[in-house]
Amino acid sequence: MKRIVVLNPKGGSGKTTLATNLASLFAARGHKTALMDYDNQGSSTYWVNQRGAERPLIQIISAYKHPISVTRNYFLRVAPDTQYLIIDTPAALDFSAFQRTLREATAIVIPVLPSDVDIHAVANCIGQLMTLAKIGREERRIAVVANRVRKHTLGYQRLVFFLNSLQIPFITTLRDTQNYINATAQGIGIFEMAPNRVQDDLIAWQPLIEWLHAREEIDKSTQSLTPLAVNAAPQRG
Ligand SMILES: Nc1ncnc2c1ncn2[C@@H]1O[C@H](COP(=O)(O)OP(=O)(O)OP(=O)(O)O)[C@@H](O)[C@H]1O
Ligand SMILES: [Mg+2]
Repeated sequence: MKRIVVLNPKGGSGKTTLATNLASLFAARGHKTALMDYDNQGSSTYWVNQRGAERPLIQIISAYKHPISVTRNYFLRVAPDTQYLIIDTPAALDFSAFQRTLREATAIVIPVLPSDVDIHAVANCIGQLMTLAKIGREERRIAVVANRVRKHTLGYQRLVFFLNSLQIPFITTLRDTQNYINATAQGIGIFEMAPNRVQDDLIAWQPLIEWLHAREEIDKSTQSLTPLAVNAAPQRG
């Protein structure tokens, strides 16, 4: 099972948008997909609940809930043979508590908005991933995606300059478009919309899809050396 964690402790950077669109992508391609929602706003959970029954199934695990009738591990279990687990995290994420989830991730994707405040926050976030979660740059498991971008603005130019200086893969730029907002309202992703309406967005996602695929290949080749704990449910606290 491939695990993709979407994080940025800064609120509103596009974590849920990326997580739900990734889930939509893999489900639409026929992969057995689960989405784990750690944010007590429940946005990913809401999104799945909006999905029509005719859509490819996405298992939702509302990890922010704490039912007392079952054990935590039972509550967080992923359906057998799940191929992709997408993990949507809350703002102000506690990296230490998420250490295990982060260590087991095939990929960690960080969406970042083009503003000075967000640039500052993402620099902190990457620093914390390295110090608190002990993820090294050389592992190349972390990637950054610029989100809600209007190209040709000063903010975007500053963001690109900053991201290129990070030595962390800066994968792609997603534009600011109603397509994501419209998709969210229907419980779908852009991969399930009429392609002619989202052509530019599909092109923008391609580098991220390719990077994730490359990550999977690296994981496959190293798995025999460091097997992932497939049954280990992400834990908090
Ligand atoms: N590329 C985009 N174009 C237009 N709107 C976007 C884009 N990305 C995100 N949004 C909108 O911005 C808002 C915040 O996005 P989102 O909920 O994905 O962020 P988040 O990081 O999950 O927020 P939170 O930290 O509160 O969980 C949402 O209303 C979403 O629809
Ligand atoms: Mg969110």
